[in-house]
Amino acid sequence: MRTVHKIKELRTILQNYRSQGKRIGLVPTMGNLHEGHISLVAKALEATDVVVTSIFVNPMQFGANEDLDSYPRTLKADQEKLEQAGNTLVFAPPVSEIYPNGLANQTQVVVPGVSEGHCGAGRPGHFEGVATVVTMLFNMVQPDIAVFGEKDFQQLAVIRKLTQDLMIPVEIIGAPTVRDEDGLAKSSRNGYLSEQERSKAAAIHQTLSDLAKQLEQPSIADLDTLSREACERLEAAGFRPEYVNIVNSLTLQPASIDDRELTVLAAAFLGTTRLIDNISVTR
Ligand code: PAJ
Repeated sequence: MRTVHKIKELRTILQNYRSQGKRIGLVPTMGNLHEGHISLVAKALEATDVVVTSIFVNPMQFGANEDLDSYPRTLKADQEKLEQAGNTLVFAPPVSEIYPNGLANQTQVVVPGVSEGHCGAGRPGHFEGVATVVTMLFNMVQPDIAVFGEKDFQQLAVIRKLTQDLMIPVEIIGAPTVRDEDGLAKSSRNGYLSEQERSKAAAIHQTLSDLAKQLEQPSIADLDTLSREACERLEAAGFRPEYVNIVNSLTLQPASIDDRELTVLAAAFLGTTRLIDNISVTR
């Protein structure tokens, strides 16, 4: 497995693969890889010959008071995990390679609709940062497919829309959330949790799972009350909930009682760590 840090080198290697008729898959990440990320690489390998995993802690998607500086950077351990997984190429550029003219001068991709509300409301500019860097990665790698986790449900919706709207010839594949044994979704940010916080953290998944079971019942009619009760339950478990929203899975707009495909989206702080999770339901 090779690691490259420069766009020019990446393009040369990929051009060579492409001329041999090989299919290329892309897995964008910010590194500090866990089994969730590795499951995306495995999925990409099922559908392609060559998998590029990018590792780039993207400053554009972090707010001023967020964890850009403390975000874990663990390239060596990441390379070992990717090598084991059968990944072909790691693209780990420095910030100066991606934003040579500075962040303030960077053209941005703005995705209306699905990027508004939920995490978009609590993290202004976040999805513009994600959409911009992912569009750039698509242009640099020109993959046949790209794999993203359902763990970041709103992010996946944003990427699907930008791909369609900008007519980027890439197939977007969603992959299911990988969880710890107690149900906590694996996340690089779980490493911030103290032992005591970690012991409480699975309550977010438990709360959403129970809410999903209620939603599956046709008799349920009052969605607002269900969301409010879930927030209260998270509070009682020691979280500071940012939101628990029941949405239409396609539009991410507030669900109506007639919707068939629903998703519960949630974000909540445990101490200073912000956790997100979601669960989808068919009614
Ligand atoms: P990052 O948080 O590193 O996640 C990279 C990819 O891994 C995303 O598609 C995310 O949804 C997926 N992922 C994370 N945890 C997962 C889990 N427990 N199970 C399955 N998939 C999981 O998301 C980002 O980076 C960035 O925003 C990025 C898309 C790379 C743009 O900078």
